[in-house]
Amino acid sequence: MIFDLKEMKTADRQYYLQHVIAPRPVCFASTIDADGRVNLSPFSFFNLFSSNPPVVIFSPARRVRDNTTKHTLQNVLEVPEVVINIVSWDMVQQTSLASCEYPKGVDEFIKAGFTREPATLVKPPMVRESKAKLECRVLEIKSLGDEGGAGQLVICEVLRLHINDSLLTEEKKFDQAKLDLVARLGGDWYCRVSKDNLFIVPKPNVKLGIGMDALPEAIRLSRILTGNHLGQLANVHEMPVVQPSFDDDHLKNIVQYFSVNPPEMEKELHTYAARLLDNGQVEQAWQVLLAGEVIA
Ligand SMILES: Cc1cc2nc3c(=O)[nH]c(=O)nc-3n(C[C@H](O)[C@H](O)[C@H](O)COP(=O)(O)O)c2cc1C
Repeated sequence: MIFDLKEMKTADRQYYLQHVIAPRPVCFASTIDADGRVNLSPFSFFNLFSSNPPVVIFSPARRVRDNTTKHTLQNVLEVPEVVINIVSWDMVQQTSLASCEYPKGVDEFIKAGFTREPATLVKPPMVRESKAKLECRVLEIKSLGDEGGAGQLVICEVLRLHINDSLLTEEKKFDQAKLDLVARLGGDWYCRVSKDNLFIVPKPNVKLGIGMDALPEAIRLSRILTGNHLGQLANVHEMPVVQPSFDDDHLKNIVQYFSVNPPEMEKELHTYAARLLDNGQVEQAWQVLLAGEVIA
């Protein structure tokens, strides 16, 4: 199905886009109005856009329902400062509660049961329960329109980042698993970035990967190796060659038992290579596949 966005109602556009542009991190924004009254609301139209200068953007949109503006937007127009509190799993239900449309001036710290902690450079308070918070100054507010659903981009420079010590290793490196982030998807769906869901994709190194087109045909057209497997194999920076020192009992067994039946042997080798690749053992997988190439 193809959706032509121009032909759609705003609510429907939002519905489909929010399902596919996901997961989105949650900016839990603390702001104040000109009278110093505090507001705390979540926004998942949010991301990091620059590290020099350090810039994040979130978007309190005009309401689709009645085209009114959010208190957060009104506040940053009055006092251009914000603390962005990052939301982890243990905060998610209270964060959702804070998204209720309480009347202006109602402090969602109190409604949602969070603890205020003074920020160091800006006036809005931080959420003590959040393990990572960004003290920001608003650089610019860019309105994307004046109709319901129009995003209002709050472009923020991050002045100070507070990271809970429990998230850092002794060498001050970030332990991604410990933040236990949540993110918003379509409808009422959220996801939790727990240890079990995390995986590593090694960055392509500075040298270029050989590319899919350079893979030998028998590998590229394999019925067993998936796109992910081929992506790993094609990410080496030069075509591997057979290493005589590569000694692997399972490979020897495959060659011994299946050499009389080349198609079966290829199947076995590709299955073994797939297993190695799933384990991140790219060099070994290449050696297994090259053994098949040599014999073929
Ligand atoms: C997790 C979550 C993410 C949200 N993301 C957005 C968003 O990106 N933009 C938006 O306009 N509203 C978003 N909302 C709805 C606002 O939080 C809600 O309209 C809130 O009442 C605004 O509060 P305010 O008027 O006090 O600023 C989100 C709600 C939740 C629970």
